[in-house]
Amino acid sequence: MQKLPFEFSHGGYIKQNAPQQRIGLRQSTTEANDGGTDFDYLFPDSARDPNSLLPAENNKDIIEKLKALGEAIIDRQGPESEDTNSIIPPVYTYWGQFIDHDITANTDQAVTDLQTDITKDDFTPLSPDFVTDKLKNLRHPTFDLDSVYGDGPTLDPQNPTQAKDFYQEDDPVKLKVGGNAEQDADGVPTPGDKIPPENDLLRDLPRNNRIAVIGDSRNDENLIVAQFHTAFLRFHNAVADWVRQNEPQNAQDNKTLFVRAQTLVRWHYQWLVVNDFLKTVTVSGTVDSILSDGLKFYHPRNGNLFMPLEFSVAAYRFGHSMVRAFYDYNRNFPNSTFRLLFQFTGRGNLGSPPAPSPFNTLPFNWIIEWDRFVDEENAAKRQKNSARKIDTHLAFPLSDLINEGNDAQPPIQELLKHLAKRNLLRGYFLSIPTGQSLADKLGIKKLTVEELQQDNSPELNQALEPFLEKTPAWYYVLKESEVRANGDSLGEVGSRIVAETIIGLMQNDPSSYLNEHEHDSDDDHLWNPSKGVKLPNGGEIRSIRDFLKFAGVLPE
Ligand code: HEM
Repeated sequence: MQKLPFEFSHGGYIKQNAPQQRIGLRQSTTEANDGGTDFDYLFPDSARDPNSLLPAENNKDIIEKLKALGEAIIDRQGPESEDTNSIIPPVYTYWGQFIDHDITANTDQAVTDLQTDITKDDFTPLSPDFVTDKLKNLRHPTFDLDSVYGDGPTLDPQNPTQAKDFYQEDDPVKLKVGGNAEQDADGVPTPGDKIPPENDLLRDLPRNNRIAVIGDSRNDENLIVAQFHTAFLRFHNAVADWVRQNEPQNAQDNKTLFVRAQTLVRWHYQWLVVNDFLKTVTVSGTVDSILSDGLKFYHPRNGNLFMPLEFSVAAYRFGHSMVRAFYDYNRNFPNSTFRLLFQFTGRGNLGSPPAPSPFNTLPFNWIIEWDRFVDEENAAKRQKNSARKIDTHLAFPLSDLINEGNDAQPPIQELLKHLAKRNLLRGYFLSIPTGQSLADKLGIKKLTVEELQQDNSPELNQALEPFLEKTPAWYYVLKESEVRANGDSLGEVGSRIVAETIIGLMQNDPSSYLNEHEHDSDDDHLWNPSKGVKLPNGGEIRSIRDFLKFAGVLPE
């Protein structure tokens, strides 16, 4: 198995000099070409066709203009108005981020042995051959939850795993979960109400000196994704209990039990990614048509799975526009700011100073109240708790990321803190084909100039002017969603790239649920939740809400 990087800043730079943050794991590589899986282009011809790319000449000018476009995308208004709300509940934003961390990493690393990257004012776009040769994905592009499991528990002392610290000492088939503090460092009781189920204070990531002991440190980047990862740890442990109780034949030894529990968790997760997540964020009909008619665009290259750069660097970054500046987080913090959500993480020192707890864990008053994040009815009624629309207006804190760029000097620091500028420059740097060329390749009607400009502020239209014929793919996907799907899902180009990639990766993974057929009866059905674990009331796990319930972090 390849070495896995356990220490990322979210998309940011792997901390090469942070041994204390390596949580006792063997030093993992940060060299892109030492291990890692393949990145490639979904449309390699387009990436090599100057007509499908922003011009490589006049690079300084284009870099400046991309920065101006990035700035114009930021929504500088104060409180977020009702019309920023989509019909999508906000759990999908952070579930989306969790999925990203399971399958793709490293597009933001300066490609090794090259003295340039997006922080230079005059970088030239890299040639696609160079990119595919040098840039490696530091994730397995399969839905195997390596971000949760690492390389598994140590069940044979002769063969210790790198991830052994993720697992409980007295029951190594289970993952460690962190407790919640009830008082601060001075012994002062934490104020606030408990979050149901009240007596359950095992709702943090496991931590060592505040740093999360988990498979991908990007999942402690903000408190919501951290709480989502915590739900996965709990889900796995609940599945292990369920197998012990309901399938004793699969619980006779730790190895059999772990493999069975992990397999069930992966299949539930994969089924939910396809049938809940993807169906929510893509245009209606996309998923079903790919499942019934087959993949049209994603096919393994030279027999290998690869991660399409059009997905990692453009289309799947649609989630950035769903992030809100404020959340109705829980009963104690019904108007929590983005800044606080970043502060209550290991990197943000869990809210210190002053230190919130003698145990360096999340205080109980900051446990998430998931029912505020999964409620479709309220999102549909356009209450405050919905994901922001998928559109060309990004929440303003994304232009000043508090945990990014802090070691850099201005003006590089300012750039690293600005997500919209980074996305646009990254697309240029890595030679991602324009939105128009992707639409052509996919056989989808291109956005017209009027559509690209529709409802934009004068400032945004001015910044967009140089890119009306050749539009950066990330902007294009956001605008397509805005004008063709009302920001309530991706548009057709975005939907196709996202769904083809996700289903393509799953269909080409022999161990995924899409390749698990039942042969024991007259039918030959795919694995589905009726074959999986059940809630105490006998219900199947058919939505992210059911998943959180089974994990015990959302009361029945
Ligand atoms: C609070 C939320 C988030 C923050 C602060 C954040 C921040 C970042 C940053 C700084 C990068 C690296 C940018 C670069 O220089 O290239 C990145 C990459 C990325 N983000 Fe996010 N992100 C967030 C949420 C999301 C969500 C919700 C999604 C998708 C649904 C997403 C998808 C991605 C993807 C696919 C990448 C590229 C990963 C790779 O290297 O392969 N992010 N993000």
